[in-house]
Amino acid sequence: MSDADATVQSMADASPAKWHLAHTTWFFETMVLKRFAADYAVFDARFNFLFNSYYETIGARQPRPKRGMITRPSLDEIMAYRAHVDAAIEGLLDGDADPAAEELVELGCHHEQQHQELLLTDILHLFAQSPVRPAYRDGSAPEAVQEAAPADWISFDGGIVEIGHDGRGFSFDCEGPRHRALLEPFRLADRLVTNGEWLEFMAEGGYRDPLLWLADGWAQILEHGWAAPFYWEEGDSGWRSMTLRGIQPIDPAAPVTHVSYFEADAFATWAGKRLPSEAEWEHAAASLSIAPSSDPRRLRPRPASGEPGLKQMFGEVWQWTRSPFTPYPRFKPAEGAVGEYNGKFMCGQFVLRGSSVATPPEHARATYRNFFPPDKRWQFSGLRLAEDI
Ligand SMILES: [Fe+2]
Repeated sequence: MSDADATVQSMADASPAKWHLAHTTWFFETMVLKRFAADYAVFDARFNFLFNSYYETIGARQPRPKRGMITRPSLDEIMAYRAHVDAAIEGLLDGDADPAAEELVELGCHHEQQHQELLLTDILHLFAQSPVRPAYRDGSAPEAVQEAAPADWISFDGGIVEIGHDGRGFSFDCEGPRHRALLEPFRLADRLVTNGEWLEFMAEGGYRDPLLWLADGWAQILEHGWAAPFYWEEGDSGWRSMTLRGIQPIDPAAPVTHVSYFEADAFATWAGKRLPSEAEWEHAAASLSIAPSSDPRRLRPRPASGEPGLKQMFGEVWQWTRSPFTPYPRFKPAEGAVGEYNGKFMCGQFVLRGSSVATPPEHARATYRNFFPPDKRWQFSGLRLAEDI
């Protein structure tokens, strides 16, 4: 990507690539080096204002919608900043580092993985605004168009189950504490909802029937004219979609992506089903291995395999649940500035489970709680249906 590609901000929700690169570096500098590396020389004191995201305890910052105005420092200067901070972190870890510093370095790595995903989703949004429709990665033929097998339904008995992270290995604070949840008997579809099924929903007037929609979702339709998933456009030869591999025909067998919570909920209502709760999803996923099933560099979700059992839980699209992002019983935010990481966002957002084709594979966990407001569509967000027994 050029300096220009990396500088432009396409909307308030998306950040320039340059900002992501600098902000993740700022996180290590601010949370680790300034506190634990006695002889650390700050690279540029002005960067604290430019690259602080939302940490009130750390001070004033560039307004989020104006991150694209940061034409200077240049991309080269930001890469030099990254090298400077990398070297200092390596120096700190080579010595006898405080265990608290090591923990924050680990948090910084997981934070950077989150931004690696956002880099891709934000570049896609930027390139989708360009009339020449650049491909982030070239060289892909259209996916083989095939029919998806009908979904199978996997039954679960319900009862009192345990969900949440047990504290062994890394997790974000919001994933715990582990606690009991009561589930009624339920079923989950063995695969994700496909583009082909979404086309049926559209053909049957799914976007035109207010009875299928939550009131807030219907208001979005009236305001924005939603009639298809984000990035979809209808051409002479059918529906196409902007992807990280440029504009591509819709593959009916691949999972639908770039739909909001409101759309996912309306689809489930139309199908006579519902979205799973996050406890149902996690209980079902707990026994699965998370071996990455495919090449993470493909950058497009793939159709489900024909194997029996739950499929596509990880590595294709994030799956909307009906659960609001709220604290688990006995949740306490982490101490210090990093306590602002998750807890303060526990209002007005819904939980998504799994991981997407843009998520670094080693970042996925059964307990992971991703969250976005219900009208957002620029992430790789899709759905899996559930039903009561
Ligand atoms: Fe961040």
